Parts: sequence; structure tokens; C-alpha cells
Amino acid sequence: MICIRSINALRLHIADEKRKSKAIGFVPTMGALHEGHISLIKQAKAENALCIASIFVNPLQFNNAEDFKKYPIQQEKDIQLMEQAGCDVLFIPSVEEFYPSPPKLSIDIGALDRILEGTHRPGHFSGVAIVVSKLFNVVSPDKAYFGQKDLQQVAVINQLVRELNFPIEIIACPIVREQNGLAMSSRNMRLSNAGKTVASNLFAALSLIKQSISKGERSTSTLVTVGGNYLNTFKEIEIEYLEVVNGDTLESITEIKGVSKVAVCIAAHIEGVRLIDNLVIIL
Ligand code: PAF
Repeated sequence: MICIRSINALRLHIADEKRKSKAIGFVPTMGALHEGHISLIKQAKAENALCIASIFVNPLQFNNAEDFKKYPIQQEKDIQLMEQAGCDVLFIPSVEEFYPSPPKLSIDIGALDRILEGTHRPGHFSGVAIVVSKLFNVVSPDKAYFGQKDLQQVAVINQLVRELNFPIEIIACPIVREQNGLAMSSRNMRLSNAGKTVASNLFAALSLIKQSISKGERSTSTLVTVGGNYLNTFKEIEIEYLEVVNGDTLESITEIKGVSKVAVCIAAHIEGVRLIDNLVIIL
């Protein structure tokens, strides 16, 4: 694996690889790698001649300064993990080169920014859209891989690629979970062991909702009550939102009717750490 830290050096390297007609699979990350990231690298490597990954903690997508400050950084370990997972080229740009001055551009995502994470994290998706566009311009991959834990992010990136005509195929990869159901996340590193055990109840609540749907419950407010009542038995869990939405558009629905899939989405705080999870249910 080679590690490249400047945009020009990466562009030169990629131009060379493209002359050999190598298909490029790209995995953008913010580091603090876990099994979820590793599964993306492995899939990108299996499906392309060249796997390129990036590590860049994008300041633009943090709507909360404290959250940015606390984001776990473990660059040496991440470089090793990338290499072991089979990454060929690792791009680690500096904030100074990537944003020589604060970008004046902002990207209005439209309706997707007025639901779920968009409502709760103003400016977040604009920041994601800008950094992903910049990375796509520099890397020009054939395929790019994203985890479905960030379900709405995948929808935002699909929209970005569609509307800005990026010639890139977006591959959404399944959520990787701990044995107890906790979705893998870099933020889990900030939880105590007890916190991680409590956090596994987020998935338990999503699964309870899934069970109720399979038993025939169709009112989304009743389903949210089922999950909410369960989670409220844990005093350590503070729910930010819990919603059952249209699985295709992520728009709010009051009743499960006339849709082919639903997504149960949650954001909650445990030990001061904000966690998200979701379960997509095909009907
Ligand atoms: O999902 C993430 O880790 C980030 O949002 C991404 C896509 C790397 C952009 O900074």
C-alpha cells in the first residue's frame, strides 16, 4: 500500500493507473476504522483492480464543534488496518490543502435535508456533499463504497451523483454489527463497556418494531411507541428521534401502506455520545 498526502501526487498516480485501464474502487472514510470500514475496503478490493481509500476528518460536516474535537484520531493504527484489509492507495489530505480557505460554496440537498439527520444536524449534509464531491473529483473512481448505517448519507450521495452527473457507481454496503447487535461505529470507541451493552438496545428496539410490523401493525406512531417504551426502560438512553419512514424516499409516513419497504431510523445519546442506527424492512 502506498500512502499519498497531496492532491497532485494522487492525481499523477491515478493518471498512471488509468493508463493501464485499472478500474478504481474508492472508500472515503474519516478514519477511526472498525470492521464496517474493513468490509468496505474488502468489497472494493474484490470488485476493482485498484482500491483507493481516504482518511479525512472533514470539519465542514460537523455541526457541533465539541463533536469534531472529540472525533477519535488513530492514524498510525488506521494505516496498518488499511494495509491489512488490502487497500492499495491511501490518501490522507491535510485540512490546509483540502480547504485552503473556508469554502464559500454550500450545497442545498433539498427535501433530504429537512428530514431525520438533516433536521437534527443543520449543515451536515452540505458538508458531506462538498467533501465527497471534492474527493470524487480528485480520485475519479469507477465505484464508491458507503455503509448503510448512514442510510440518509447514501441517499444524499446517490442524489449528488445523479444530479451532478458523476460517472461513478455508488455501492451501499450492509451494516456490520457486534454480536449483541450494536452497529459498528467510530463513535463506539467513546463508550464504556457498560455503555456499549446499553447501546445494543437500540438495535433491539428496531428489531421489536420489525416484529410488530410482521405481526401486522401498520400505524407508525404505534410502532414508534413500541420502540420508545422499550428504550425508555434504560435511563442511560436519551432518544433524539425514532421514526418509521418510507424506505425509498426516507419521507415520514403515518401508515405503512402503498410502500415496498420501510426504514426504522434512530438517533440517541448514551454517555454523551450520539449514535445512529437503522433497519430497512422489505414488505
Ligand atoms: O461516512 C463518513 O465517514 C463521512 O461522512 C464521509 C463519507 C467519509 C465524508 O466525510
